Amino acid sequence: MRILVCPPKYFGVDYVINPWMEGQIGRVDRSLAHAQWQALVDGFAATASVEEIEPRDGSPDMCFTANAGLTAFDRVIPARFRMPERAGEEEPFTNWFARNGFDVIKLPGEDPFEGEGDALFQPGEPLLWAGYGVRSALETHSILGQAFGTEVVSLRLVDPRFYHLDTCFAPLPGGRLLYYPAAFDERSQRAIEQRIPANKRIAVSDEDATGFACNVMRLGEKLFLNQASPTLQRDLARWDFETIICPVSEFLKAGGGVKCLSMILDQANFARISPAPESPIRSTELEVKGHLLDTGGLNRALDIITEAGGSFRIATLSLAERKDQESRAQLHVVAPSMEGLEEIVSELTSVGAQSLEREMLANLEAVTQDGVAPHHFYSTTIYPTEVHLDSGWCEVEKQRMDAVIVVDDDSDPVARCVLFRELEVGQHVVCRTDGVRVRYPEHHSVGEFSFMNASVSSERRVEASVKSIACEMRRIRERDGKIVVVAGPVVVHTGGAKHLSSLIDGGFVQALLTGNALPVHDIEFDLFGTSLGIDLSRGKPVHEGHRNHLMAINRVRAEGGIREAVESGMIRSGIMHSCVTQNVRFVLAGSIRDDGPLPDTLMDLEKAQAAYAEAIEGADMILMLSSMLHSIGTGNMTPAGVHLICVDISPATVTKLADRGSLESTGIVTDVGLFLNLLAASLSGDDGR
Ligand code: ARG
Repeated sequence: MRILVCPPKYFGVDYVINPWMEGQIGRVDRSLAHAQWQALVDGFAATASVEEIEPRDGSPDMCFTANAGLTAFDRVIPARFRMPERAGEEEPFTNWFARNGFDVIKLPGEDPFEGEGDALFQPGEPLLWAGYGVRSALETHSILGQAFGTEVVSLRLVDPRFYHLDTCFAPLPGGRLLYYPAAFDERSQRAIEQRIPANKRIAVSDEDATGFACNVMRLGEKLFLNQASPTLQRDLARWDFETIICPVSEFLKAGGGVKCLSMILDQANFARISPAPESPIRSTELEVKGHLLDTGGLNRALDIITEAGGSFRIATLSLAERKDQESRAQLHVVAPSMEGLEEIVSELTSVGAQSLEREMLANLEAVTQDGVAPHHFYSTTIYPTEVHLDSGWCEVEKQRMDAVIVVDDDSDPVARCVLFRELEVGQHVVCRTDGVRVRYPEHHSVGEFSFMNASVSSERRVEASVKSIACEMRRIRERDGKIVVVAGPVVVHTGGAKHLSSLIDGGFVQALLTGNALPVHDIEFDLFGTSLGIDLSRGKPVHEGHRNHLMAINRVRAEGGIREAVESGMIRSGIMHSCVTQNVRFVLAGSIRDDGPLPDTLMDLEKAQAAYAEAIEGADMILMLSSMLHSIGTGNMTPAGVHLICVDISPATVTKLADRGSLESTGIVTDVGLFLNLLAASLSGDDGR
């Protein structure tokens, strides 16, 4: 074995480029460092041939030769350091390789790669483990596989203390591995587990990891390292390795251990794959634009990329100088695999990024089983979406979230959102995210009340919100717009029925979406003055009152339905009475807990969902009054651009509606009866103004 080392003549901690160096500037004991280094090199020399490179003044980290590059089969890919502090080492290292007969392969581009520090061969196998995320760029990994004829597995480092792969990962012969799992992201941990079975992996303790126990130089069966706990030594002995502790405390102050101080020059113990396997790394170009700085949009986009295991380069960035201008950034996004890239792109497109690979058309795959989408279906959002077809960009109709896009490919193609259950064999569904673009709104003119200040709790704030809502409702009525009310039975229990009824009579409601309970209690109140047996005027239960709602149901059933009961004069007032007399459409969606039900209640939920969806078409505003189930159901089918107002006594319900990611929502935490009272008063001009 040939090893390259560099005497620590100019070694010291002169700057901080990793967490270990913090607080260590000027604290290295030079003579101790030298003694430790000499002892280590003497240890190597007993079994290996050690070659020395002349140190360079001004490059205090040059003794860490592992970072010089990556060699195998007399080829070398010299490092390109991420940190400018170490850039001065590149030239002397490259010259040394050229002078010593290596075939020097220069890395294209500008992406950093810090040599063996971030790339380790699995002994005896055409498998290279490569680290990224801190120092080396993912982009460089595809070249490594090509150059050395190996498969490359990219591992993302997530702990700044373990900034190089060799600080937390040591592949050993026999398909074995010593490593510190917490240094890697989830996906990388899975990738490791897939290739190395559990009985061939040793996960080191925190103490061994921070003592640089994974930073191992192996010569035959001898493992040279800075530290190994008795447990670790025992485990390694079971695998027939001899641990040789070589303390390098002075070098630890710079964040380097035994392996960092040595580079292997003659790795050639595996059969190269020819032709070299294709790299799984994929990249694409995307553009994000809008108020990237003031809304933090750029940060969000970049976080999405990194958290999903990708990396990026900002290719161009043009920044807005004023508030009314847009910023734009073109991003070069790289991911360790096609699936990884798709995940990133789909998350980015859902926050409004657009693919710059414009020529990409939407992938259409045929449905092969009724009611089942092709595996890679694109799932929709509430935002306006277009798909790129042969004929050009086509706006998607019936936009809603959690659906798929079906393209009816006639001469004049139509794209629309469709639910799984509506899919038919032979229809074409948009798959993956190519050729899909989403218009994501950034600013909305919903006045001062967006979800951010949703937890309106003080009376004064409720009053202010109500006035503003009333004003919007008047404007909608003036232009013959559409207001939909989704309501739960609490509206009746809290005495809100007469107010909702007056809203309907006033022409402020174009559709009512609810379940079985609201009409039952509304009608019960009309017939008996009680709501679920409670006398609403006195707030007390009445004798035998629990039968009242059943009697109401029974009487409507006898009439044949709500409309019939109103027309026959049985129902004389209330919410349902107003709906019938004002010809306001109502849809009653049933549930498992319904008594009766009323003849009008749709117990077939697929039919009920379809009827709800039809009823909200073209809505300008949806008032959601104390009904979590029906409100969320409605929210799920509502496209962006509709002002949702959610009123509930429970803040959790109000917040839940914000989860659909809509910015056009107003949340009001208050008693719904009180809210309706204020709203009705405000709309009738009787609000004290
Ligand atoms: N101070 C050096 C740096 O931060 C230490 C390099 C350690 N080398 C290694 N292969 N882990 O770059």
